[in-house]
Amino acid sequence: MTLLNRSHLFLRSCGSLSLGSTIYKARLTTFEAGDFCILRHMKSSRKYFIGPLEQEGMRNLKGGSIAHSQLLGAPVRSIVKTNNDSTGYMAHFPTLEEYILNVPRACTPIYPKDASTIVQLLDAAPGHRILEAGTGNGSLTLHLARAVAGGGHVDTVDLRESHSKTAQKHIERFERGKYQSLVSFWVGKLSDVLSTSPHMIQQPPSSSMLEAESSSSSTEANTTSTTLSPPEELYDGVALDMPTPSEELSTVLPFLRNDRFIVCYLPNMTQVLDLMQTIRTLPLFMEDCLEVEWKEWDIRPTIIRSAATTTTRSTTDPADTTTIDSTDNMCNNDDNHSTTTPKAASTTTTTTKQAPVGTNAWVCRPKNFDVKGHTAFLVKLRKCSPASTTS
Ligand SMILES: C[S@@+](CC[C@H](N)C(=O)[O-])C[C@H]1O[C@@H](n2cnc3c(N)ncnc32)[C@H](O)[C@@H]1O
Repeated sequence: MTLLNRSHLFLRSCGSLSLGSTIYKARLTTFEAGDFCILRHMKSSRKYFIGPLEQEGMRNLKGGSIAHSQLLGAPVRSIVKTNNDSTGYMAHFPTLEEYILNVPRACTPIYPKDASTIVQLLDAAPGHRILEAGTGNGSLTLHLARAVAGGGHVDTVDLRESHSKTAQKHIERFERGKYQSLVSFWVGKLSDVLSTSPHMIQQPPSSSMLEAESSSSSTEANTTSTTLSPPEELYDGVALDMPTPSEELSTVLPFLRNDRFIVCYLPNMTQVLDLMQTIRTLPLFMEDCLEVEWKEWDIRPTIIRSAATTTTRSTTDPADTTTIDSTDNMCNNDDNHSTTTPKAASTTTTTTKQAPVGTNAWVCRPKNFDVKGHTAFLVKLRKCSPASTTS
């Protein structure tokens, strides 16, 4: 019995493939119920993530509490004050980065530095159709949807329904569901979903939601099939973030356009080597294997006290560092990512070994994990089937 059979396959489709121009025109100017907000302390610049806003909601902060109602109807950059602190906080809409790092988690997301690099490595552009697995927390899904907006679409697949639902909620809530219509969510093992329902992937329904909640058999899942023929080379790019992408490559490959890319997110070198071994027998060429590191610089005015000495302040002084308060995070890691939140940057990380039990292997990764330091290797594979001849 396949995993697909045991769980169930469902598709939540969310609108047509084309993106109306209204999506671009919708500007977030004042806070409404359901929005998220970043409150930045006017003196320390410390940021707090609040939301979704609701009429009766309250948030405790250093110096008292803020009622959500103070924000509802308030324009962006309004200054709100707690009951005991006269300094105040400035209200901003969260960026995609801030949103991803602060929403509750079903599993560890791909952090923004990697997600935006994956978008670049895939060469994703407006109008593209992208396949993603696993959906996880929906971090990469949101980055991909934003990149293809303007006629494009993302099909995202996850083995676990609970992860898929969490991701769906995050996408619904980000910027009032701006990218919701661009994503179809699938539950099941990637290769099962592709092999049992290619027709559905080829043409997601344009109505609000279609659920093929089968009880269980792939036959039943297939009852939602249409007369469309199986797709060939449907996708402009494929992003794989799962412990064993090698197992899925041969099924995924026919769905990818020739000369386009699969990008795999692999936390450790053991996984990279496993992938390299697998592609030896496939029409795939590894173009890049990279890790993304960010270096933040501390730039601020200071006072030169004498010609010989300059006053500098350590960037590691916690009091001087602008941080996002991520106490709202519920990090429950059961995936192939590391096990830390942005605040716990120095926590030792663990890695997943992909080899069978008992096989000797090496885990190679820095001990001190930081979401801006080593998170994973990004492996870019190009499909290199022979060119088809034209008459
Ligand atoms: C690390 S999480 C993905 C995080 C996600 N990329 C994000 O940015 O939030 C890995 C996910 O892959 C899913 N998964 C593992 N193997 C899979 C497979 N063969 N097919 C589909 N999903 C799979 C897991 O259920 C898990 O949710």
